[in-house]
Amino acid sequence: MKSVKLNNGIEMPMIGFGVFQVSDEETEKAVLSALKIGYRLLDTAAVYANESGVGRAIKASGIPREEIFVTTKLWIQRENGYENTKKALEDSLHRLGLDYVDLYLMHQPFGDVHKQWRAMEDLYKAGKTRAIGVSNFHMDRLMDLITCHNIVPAVNQIETHPFYQREEEIAFHKELGVLQQAWGPLAEGKFGIFDNPILTAIAQKHGKSVAQVVLRWLNQRGVAIIPKSVKESRMIENRDIFSFTLDAQDFAQIATLNRDEIIFNHRDPNRVKWLAEHRG
Ligand SMILES: NC(=O)c1ccc[n+]([C@@H]2O[C@H](COP(=O)([O-])OP(=O)(O)OC[C@H]3O[C@@H](n4cnc5c(N)ncnc54)[C@H](OP(=O)(O)O)[C@@H]3O)[C@@H](O)[C@H]2O)c1
Repeated sequence: MKSVKLNNGIEMPMIGFGVFQVSDEETEKAVLSALKIGYRLLDTAAVYANESGVGRAIKASGIPREEIFVTTKLWIQRENGYENTKKALEDSLHRLGLDYVDLYLMHQPFGDVHKQWRAMEDLYKAGKTRAIGVSNFHMDRLMDLITCHNIVPAVNQIETHPFYQREEEIAFHKELGVLQQAWGPLAEGKFGIFDNPILTAIAQKHGKSVAQVVLRWLNQRGVAIIPKSVKESRMIENRDIFSFTLDAQDFAQIATLNRDEIIFNHRDPNRVKWLAEHRG
């Protein structure tokens, strides 16, 4: 599946390009390459401090704005959730050099999420973003938001990879009409993913790389992906996943890899400290 219709009817590519942990300058270079290679969805965030680089690359690419799907994210607002959320998107748009984004995500389920969501609904109605969604929301938090508001998030961007497969959430999101988008689809290269014997054997069987197998597996499960790479050869490799199909045996083998291993643990006291230091 190369693209998908979100729950408000807008079209979104199933494969995009992420720029987490890339400097603003390097982002400009990487995004320009990614756009030349054919990526049409870019995933940034206010907290990545590289929205300006994304904006410069979009401009330099010469590609019409409407052909590029731009996602950015609202960082945690400690106070004045409604007003500050509106200002946060204006600031992001200014850094991106754009009049609107295609998808605005609440980055974390923290702060006054209800005020933040009301502001996001109003930003959507005002045409500042073509869709709104959330990120890092577990099922109970998503239900809370859906129960209390009028607009159902179009997307929930959450960590999803072979070591944290989230089978139950995929079914849950499908039932609610919320698209699951995987961050860390390649587990950020952690947990020995590229040398994993099961993934390596499946890759050899199909004449593909481990990265391609993992990304194809996510795509076949209906999960959108935004792999990050600053290397052109890998950018090309990560989009080239439609010339083969994983079979039931491959799926059964990959299922055995699930260990609920996560990259960012919000229950880790060091993580809590980091988040507190980076509140809006
Ligand atoms: N919402 C959130 O809270 C959240 C959190 C994290 C990430 N994200 C988003 O999700 C995007 C993707 O996640 P991520 O960047 O954390 O991790 P990722 O895409 O799973 O992995 C990126 C790592 O894999 C390497 N890599 C990429 N393609 C490869 C290939 N074909 N072969 C071997 N190595 C490869 C990259 O190295 P090189 O660059 O050196 O190639 C980089 O070290 C982010 O960029 C960001 O946009 C969102």
